[in-house]
Amino acid sequence: MTDETPSYSGPERVFSGVQPTGNLHLGNYLGALVKFVRLQDTHDCIFCVVDQHAITVDLNHGPGALMDQTRQIAAAFLAAGVDPDKAIVFAQSSVRAHSELTWYFNCVARMGWLERMTQFKEKAGKDKERASVGIFDYPVLQAADILVYKATHVPVGEDQKQHLELSRDIADRFNREFDAPGFFPLPEPLIQGPGARIMSLKDGFKKMSKSDPSDLSRINLTDDADTMARKIKKAKTDPEPLPATVDELQDRVEARNLVGIYAALAGKTDQDVLDEFGGQGFGAFKPALSEVVVESLAPVTQSYKDWLADPAAIDAVLAKGAEKADEIAAPVIAEVRDIIGFWRKS
Ligand code: AMP
Ligand code: TRP
Repeated sequence: MTDETPSYSGPERVFSGVQPTGNLHLGNYLGALVKFVRLQDTHDCIFCVVDQHAITVDLNHGPGALMDQTRQIAAAFLAAGVDPDKAIVFAQSSVRAHSELTWYFNCVARMGWLERMTQFKEKAGKDKERASVGIFDYPVLQAADILVYKATHVPVGEDQKQHLELSRDIADRFNREFDAPGFFPLPEPLIQGPGARIMSLKDGFKKMSKSDPSDLSRINLTDDADTMARKIKKAKTDPEPLPATVDELQDRVEARNLVGIYAALAGKTDQDVLDEFGGQGFGAFKPALSEVVVESLAPVTQSYKDWLADPAAIDAVLAKGAEKADEIAAPVIAEVRDIIGFWRKS
């Protein structure tokens, strides 16, 4: 049946979003920002600070705080190398079409689909009754973010895979329910590549995360060189020297993570790193890793500080981005309204 359904034939477009909550860390940098920078040279790209997602957990961030955090994430995009002349950079709340499409998608998505979302289960914790409706609906807003631009590719870390599957299900169901084959693309996640899943420095089974209570578990883009080196020195490892082959790393989660970080930042494979360091202990490897981390992140950290010192420049980028994003979203939402059959002045 699917074979006969015409599929989307519009242009390729990249969309991704990052929440303005807490500091960005090495996982965000490798899992998302580095990919954004690479894609802006080959694709139309839209990178969004998803401030409306940020109120699903913490409703009131305090006076001015949400706006500051939004500027911080925009500054991190720019510091990592996102070029506002090549890619659109903007804040989700400044383009109203996201919210509007979310409502329509709320009526397309099924309760059962959302109840299966593992991130909801994690975030809502044991007391589901007290979680906001917004946190339950979070992935529907995410689907609207992507599809209001008819984006076809979404660079994200591995933790977003399930949300992307839901976006595809929503797009597919909308197209079928309204007999609009190929109207929305079925967006594909771009997850592969080194850095898709950077783990905590303190526990190789947990992903590196903004919300981990231990700051030693992550390297923040705002850390200075000494702090980065100290965190790597204190990173959990095992007593064995590094092995000669990737296979032998499989059950050594912490060692595998550190080798992976080195490889991702140095543009090498895990095996390249083992060819160089196999047989050596962490006493030798950790200082080399620190050097690579500091060298790679120092220019980003510096540029991040420079952007933050000039909020008016960030605002100019966000304002221009909002205008360009709106130009793409407005005709899509107008077509959606027609497809659904809402009244309009003829
Ligand atoms: P978040 O901070 O959760 O909004 O995530 C922003 C982006 O960073 C998303 O694409 C995530 O998938 C990605 N990301 C977050 N944590 C990690 C991690 N530990 N490893 C790789 N990517 C990550
Ligand atoms: N849920 C994503 C995260 O936590 C952020 C996000 C919101 C997003 N909307 C998006 C990512 C659209 C990609 C595309 O990381």
